[in-house]
Amino acid sequence: MTTDQSGAGDSGQVVGPDGAGALVVIPTYNERENLPLIVGRLQAALPQVHVLVVDDSSPDGTGEVADGLAADGAGRVHVLHRTVKDGLGKAYLTGFAWGLERDYPVIVEMDADGSHAPEQLHRLLEGINAGADLVIGSRYVPGGELVNWPKRRELLSKGANTYARLALGAKIHDITAGYRAYRAAVLRTIGLDQVESAGYCFQIDLAWRTLQNGFVVREVPITFTEREIGESKMDGGVIAESFINVARWGVQGRLARRRAR
Ligand code: GDD
Ligand code: MN
Repeated sequence: MTTDQSGAGDSGQVVGPDGAGALVVIPTYNERENLPLIVGRLQAALPQVHVLVVDDSSPDGTGEVADGLAADGAGRVHVLHRTVKDGLGKAYLTGFAWGLERDYPVIVEMDADGSHAPEQLHRLLEGINAGADLVIGSRYVPGGELVNWPKRRELLSKGANTYARLALGAKIHDITAGYRAYRAAVLRTIGLDQVESAGYCFQIDLAWRTLQNGFVVREVPITFTEREIGESKMDGGVIAESFINVARWGVQGRLARRRAR
């Protein structure tokens, strides 16, 4: 490990303008064609970011592709091979633990399929440098965009956000978003060992824990572009999980606030 990870040195900033100090965790399941494209774009945009691919033994050989990228990655690309596929949430938790052990000051979540533009990652990192603890790349704040997303997904996503806002009282416009940057302190504080959520719900769960712990959450606009290669892994089970958990957290939050009065 180089000293890069400790951040940008004397400037007082957490992350350098070239990405030094940030670990980008990319979970993959059957993303053989997408992965080299996204890693290449990341390295071009922010040459000092480190990448951690968390692959769940993809049958299409994504894990081997990732090993090849790591071999060419000048020590800045790493791979975890998991033997089970038990959801996006578990893959991220494994990646976060790896990054926290190595003291990266900032840990980023990014999809492998091109929906999250590496060219916009600087917006999230600038939000961290400006003082936020969690920066969400948001589709639903002014300047945020959706490109080629099926109407069905858009309605589902907007519905999930409205529902979560009403149930939780959280003032986040895109609480299911999967493009985020966390300060390590957040991930060390919010009780990751108790997180059980898998799909979209994982994103809501972590944002909610971050707010409940009094951290500063900020949204910056991003352009979310539907994948061109491969398919989404989200399914009905993921939606049901979100619906039930958000209702439960909403009730718990209201009871806690009432008790505090
Ligand atoms: N390791 C691992 N294990 N990776 C997975 C798994 C899994 O079980 N499931 C999905 N992934 C990876 C995919 O390979 C991709 O890189 C990323 O996680 C996102 O998966 P998609 O299947 O493309 O998700 P999506 O486009 O439907 O959903 C995106 O938008 C949602 C909000 O609308 C994601 O960013 C979600 O996190 C987000 O909630
Ligand atoms: Mn996707």
